[in-house]
Amino acid sequence: MGFPLDRLQRYRQTPALRALLSETHLSADDFIMPIFVSESLSEPVPIPSMPGLSQQSLSSLPAEVSDCVSLGIKAIILFGIPSIKDAKGTASYAADGVVQQATRLIKDQFPDLVVIADCCLCEYTDHGHCGVHPRCDGFGFDMDATLDTLSRIAISYAEAGVDIVAPSGMMDGTIVTLRTALDSAGYSQVLLLSYAVKYASAFYGPFRDAAGAGDVFKGDRCHHQLSPTQCREGLREAALDVSEGADMLMVKPGMPYLDMVRALRDRYDHPVVAYQVSGEYAMIHAGIAQGVLPAEAIEESLMAFKRAGSDLIISYFAKQYLKNG
Ligand code: PBG
Repeated sequence: MGFPLDRLQRYRQTPALRALLSETHLSADDFIMPIFVSESLSEPVPIPSMPGLSQQSLSSLPAEVSDCVSLGIKAIILFGIPSIKDAKGTASYAADGVVQQATRLIKDQFPDLVVIADCCLCEYTDHGHCGVHPRCDGFGFDMDATLDTLSRIAISYAEAGVDIVAPSGMMDGTIVTLRTALDSAGYSQVLLLSYAVKYASAFYGPFRDAAGAGDVFKGDRCHHQLSPTQCREGLREAALDVSEGADMLMVKPGMPYLDMVRALRDRYDHPVVAYQVSGEYAMIHAGIAQGVLPAEAIEESLMAFKRAGSDLIISYFAKQYLKNG
């Protein structure tokens, strides 16, 4: 068949027909809202590079979470900003660390909300790197110390009530190390969301501002995160994490790496998560603010993740989109 029997415009005649035939849908169930919590703040402070978003204080956190819950959001991902950083990032696994306190607060008031916590050292080290003792020659980390610290973080998160631990540092061996540590500490119910396919990306700039790592971090993350040139190597990362026991797989950033979202979807039956990162947010936000893009660009960008095959989307637009459409 072909024209004139096939006229695909027949599908698109009215808004009702278009809605009825829509192949892709977005709802509150699709979203994970990122929240930055700073230990040293007493009230929310706007993040200059991410207009519309703020770092929360522990006291402002319940209102922010309540907002998410009332929009139907089922999960948040927490990023902590400690008041004190040191070379080994020891504040990351303190029982009264910022993420641990935040989790207890949230679970107290919103027991059904799924709490995911980013598990990495870069917000906690005074050098801003994702591991312990970055060597001067730039060839990586003291891996034993790094994996040991990540295990401590994961266990302290689990003790505080975190549902899903999300190691974001792309350190080799993280997943099997954390699975073993959690299981032997009695936390076999805690899920691991692996940042399996994470690129050394230029799109993280605003996050470093938001997470208070921008001022201290010198260098790059090219020794442990993937190069934007790599596709097959990303698939090997995912395969390793699957074999090590990852429960969920993430691709990050999202929009520049939709090929990897599709590849993971086709290859694995694990839940696939796409992270629309800070630079993607800032870019779309700036386009809209300058009148260059209409607000519909937000929905279109989110729809792309669903079409590419992701089950869940971490997006700084989650609240705004669910509020305004
Ligand atoms: C920590 C981490 C980063 C992001 C999430 N977790 C920064 C990085 O890897 O440099 C970036 C998220 C964003 O840009 O929104 N390792």
